[in-house]
Amino acid sequence: MSDLVEARKSPGPLTTLIRKLDDRVDDKDEAVASVAKGVSASCSLEAASGAAASAESEEASDPDYEDPEVWLENRQQLYEHLTSPYPTAFGKDVSKADRELMESPPSTLTYGEIDFKSFSIALNKIRRVYGRPGVGTTPPEGIMQQPGGMFCDIGSGTGKPSVAAAVCHPFDLVAGIEILPGLYAISLQLAVRFEEQRSSMGAAGTATGVPEGPLAHNTRLAFACGDGCDFSVYDWRNADVCFANSTCFNDALMAKVAEAAESLKKGAFFITLTKKLPSTSFTVLYQKVFKMSWGGATVFIQQKLRDPTPSEPATKV
Ligand SMILES: C[S@@+](CC[C@H](N)C(=O)[O-])C[C@H]1O[C@@H](n2cnc3c(N)ncnc32)[C@H](O)[C@@H]1O
Repeated sequence: MSDLVEARKSPGPLTTLIRKLDDRVDDKDEAVASVAKGVSASCSLEAASGAAASAESEEASDPDYEDPEVWLENRQQLYEHLTSPYPTAFGKDVSKADRELMESPPSTLTYGEIDFKSFSIALNKIRRVYGRPGVGTTPPEGIMQQPGGMFCDIGSGTGKPSVAAAVCHPFDLVAGIEILPGLYAISLQLAVRFEEQRSSMGAAGTATGVPEGPLAHNTRLAFACGDGCDFSVYDWRNADVCFANSTCFNDALMAKVAEAAESLKKGAFFITLTKKLPSTSFTVLYQKVFKMSWGGATVFIQQKLRDPTPSEPATKV
């Protein structure tokens, strides 16, 4: 352990590259530089060299080995950088403008955003506890145990939970479906920004042979506009982890979400806020009040108990 602590101080290939990038940034790019430094810190385990590196390499490549506080700080910095052009107040204004075009907008369209830290804690509960092979109905390969898999946000707003999911875990596909077109348009902009950052930082990691940074995986962000419960708008039946910021969803919408969720694979997770899925096909594994943009909300982590009905097989997206 002390060898590794020592090794963290010596610069590795990604750290060196990020330092070079830092030298190139001008004043406008100060935010990028601070994120790059965060990534540099998060990847510093990979700076281990020589005997210490080979002895500890297995442990060092395990994300669980990283100090949870350092893990959170680095991811939060990166998330804040990626989403910084779209503050919560902006999302609220766009949502309001969308709703003002409607005759009587339902309260289910009320806007609010996740708190990154709370959201990451919920995802980490799946990664560290409930997604382990053999826990609950989790399949033998586990969920969120290695890079890959699919995340989907039902009612994705400006797309922030999707970016948060991509920052917290190297999913292959992160999707979001939003019914209001103005919010959907913003999520497309956020996807472009994410891709620009991901490809520059991810390519930097690959070029230097560094195995994994928060954005090193080729995660694809996909957003769709329409009813999140309609698979012809977007098919999320293959998702491993679903999310709905459902505090303002009414009983009818919760029932629709639960009905669509019947098509998920056995073992899939569904995180909801304030309200549980009204479904006997899911069991609540965890519930706790966490901070969100509007105040406290109970986070429910639920897991699918059964296979989808044969008439509605899960399909690869
Ligand atoms: C509380 S906001 C959450 C935004 C985002 N998921 C977050 O947590 O930051 C809920 C969103 O769900 C959207 N929504 C409501 N009903 C929907 C439906 N049937 N299909 C898709 N989106 C819906 C609303 O327009 C709103 O943007």
